[in-house]
Amino acid sequence: MCGIIAITTSSKINVSKMITDGLKKLEYRGYDSVGIATINNGKIQVLKDAGSIDTVNKRMSFEDLEGTIGIGHTRWATHGPPSKENAHPHSDCTGNIIVVHNGIIENYLHLKEALLNKGHQFSSETDSEVIVHLMEEELLKTGRKQSILEAFKQTIAQLEGTYAITLIHSTDPDTIFLARKDSPLVIGVREDIKFAASDIPAFLEYTKKVIVLRNGEIATLTPKAVYIEKNGFRIQPKPVVVSWTAESAQKSGYPHFMLKEIHEQPIALKNTLNINPDIMEKASNKVLKAGKIIFLACGTSYHAGLTGYHQFLRILQKKPLYKIIASEYETYSSLVDEDTLIIAVSQSGETLDVMKAVTHVRKLGASIVSLANVVDSSIPRLSQIPLYTKAGPEIGVAATKTHTAQVALLARLALQVEHDIGQINRTEFKEQLHSLIMDTPQIARTVINQNEFKAKRLASIIDNQQHAYFLARGLNYPIAQEGALKLKEISYIHAEAFPAGESKHGPIALVEPQFPVIMIAPNDRTAKKIQGNAEEMRARRAYVVSVTEKNHEIIKRSDYTFLIPKSSPLIRPISYVIPLQMLAYYTAVRRGFDPDKPKNLAKTVTVE
Ligand code: AGP
Repeated sequence: MCGIIAITTSSKINVSKMITDGLKKLEYRGYDSVGIATINNGKIQVLKDAGSIDTVNKRMSFEDLEGTIGIGHTRWATHGPPSKENAHPHSDCTGNIIVVHNGIIENYLHLKEALLNKGHQFSSETDSEVIVHLMEEELLKTGRKQSILEAFKQTIAQLEGTYAITLIHSTDPDTIFLARKDSPLVIGVREDIKFAASDIPAFLEYTKKVIVLRNGEIATLTPKAVYIEKNGFRIQPKPVVVSWTAESAQKSGYPHFMLKEIHEQPIALKNTLNINPDIMEKASNKVLKAGKIIFLACGTSYHAGLTGYHQFLRILQKKPLYKIIASEYETYSSLVDEDTLIIAVSQSGETLDVMKAVTHVRKLGASIVSLANVVDSSIPRLSQIPLYTKAGPEIGVAATKTHTAQVALLARLALQVEHDIGQINRTEFKEQLHSLIMDTPQIARTVINQNEFKAKRLASIIDNQQHAYFLARGLNYPIAQEGALKLKEISYIHAEAFPAGESKHGPIALVEPQFPVIMIAPNDRTAKKIQGNAEEMRARRAYVVSVTEKNHEIIKRSDYTFLIPKSSPLIRPISYVIPLQMLAYYTAVRRGFDPDKPKNLAKTVTVE
C-alpha cells in the first residue's frame, strides 16, 4: 500500500535525486504523503509532509539533501490520517535512527504503551513509528557497531503483522537494514550502488539485476555487498535479470498508464501465451488429480478467476468447482482438504487477503496453482505450481492488461485439461492451441482499433450519468462484472452487474429514460434471451448499449453497439472486456478524474 526506495553508493553522488525519481515511479502505490531522509557527514536529514510527491518536493526541494545513502517513502494511510507527522520516514528520540515501513504492525499499541512507559516520545499516530523506538531500546541493551544488526534483528523479532522495513543509522553511514514479511521488498544490484524498493520500476533504469527478499529474511546493503540471512543462517540468492525495460515502466507517450496498458494487451497476451507446455501439463495434472477445485482471488483478479471457473464448468461437468472471494475464505475453509486444488489469481502476488487464505490452505494440505504477474512474489512462492502472466509492469491502479493476461492463462489451462481428459484429440488440441496463441493477440488489436473511438464517443454520452447496469448471461457474466467494476472504480459512476435474467427480480426498478444498460451479447446460446432482456430495457426507454457481433438481432434493439470479431468461448472473455476498459477510461477522463490514481484505491492491497 506504500512505496519504499533506499539507496547506498560509494560513488560521490547525492542519492536524493534518484530517490525522488524512484518515488515518482512508485506513486501508484500510495500518494497521500511523502518523505525522504539522507545521512550526510554522520548527520541525518529528513524532509516530509502530507501531499503528493510533486507538491511536497516543490515546497521542500528534496534534491537539495546531500548524502550518498538515503531512504524515501510515499504513503497510503492505514494508521493515522495523511499529515506531516504521520508521513514517513520516522525517527527515534535521538534522531540517529530512521525507518520507513510498508504494511501493518498488528501489536503496535502494546509495543507503544511499553515504550511510552520507558519515556519514549512519539511524534505520530502511526504503527510504524514503534519500530525506531524499539531499535533505540535494543541498542541501549547491547554494545556498539557490530550490534546494530543484532539490535535490528531483536527489533524485528518483536513485531507481529506485515512489514517491508528499511532502516538507516547515522553511525553506520553506508548500510541499509532491511526486513520483510508479507509486504514486498526487492533489492537492485549494481557494482557500486545497491537499491531496495517496494517494486522493480523504482530502480529499473539503473539495474535489471534483482533479488526478491523473501518472508522472514533480514538483509543489509552496503555499496559493495548484499548480506541476507534467515533464522541466523546466511543465504546467497543469485540476482535474477528482469526482462522489463525502464521504458516499459514509463508512459511511452500515452496520457495515462492505464491507456498505455490497455494498448499493451496484444503483446501482453502474446507473451503470456508463450508459456512452457511442460508447466501447463503439470498444472493440468493437478487439476485432474484434484477432488475439488477452488478459484480464489479479489477484485478484478476474481473476475478472471470466474472466467476460469466457467471454462472448467464447461469442461469438467462432474468435478466440484467453487469460486471464493479471498476475504470471505474463512467462511468456506471447511471445504478445503488435501484433495483440494486452489487456483489463486493475483496480479501483484501480494494481496494480503489471498496470501492469508493460501497460507491457511497449505496447512490443510491442499495443492496450489497460482497466477501472478510479478515473478517470485509472495503468493507464487507459496504455490506448488506458479504460473506467470507476462504482462510487464502494470502501473495504473485499475488492472487491465494483467486481467486479460490472467484470462488467457486460464483459457490455456482449460484447453490443456480438455485435451488431457480426452474431450478433444491431439489434432483438435493443436488447432485450438494455435488459434488461442495466434488469434487472441490479433483479435485484441482489432477490438482496440475498431472500438476505441466508439468508447470515447459513448463516454461523452454517459459521462453525466450517476448509475449504470452491466447485464450478461452464463460465461459472459464475469465480463459484465469486470466492466461494472472498471467504470465504478475510475469514473465513480455507480455501476452494477447482474445476471440479465435477474433484472426483472428487482434491479429494473431503477431503470428510467436514458439509464445506461450495457449488454454483453455474443451470438452464443444466450443470444435469444439476452435479446429479450434488451427489449425489457428499451420498453423503459433505457439507453441500451450492446457489446456484440455482426448479425446479432440485439443490434436492432440497441442505441449503441460495439462490434467484436467472432471468436471461441476461450477468447471471448478477453475480446468483450476490452471495450468496457476503454469506456471506463474515457468516461473517467471526461469526468475530470485521473484514471491512474483512483481515489481511496491503491495498486496492491496489503491490508485485510
Ligand atoms: C484492480 O482494477 C482492482 N481495483 C482491484 O480490485 C484488484 O484487482 C484487487 O485488489 C486484486 O489485486 P491482485 O490482482 O494484485 O491480487
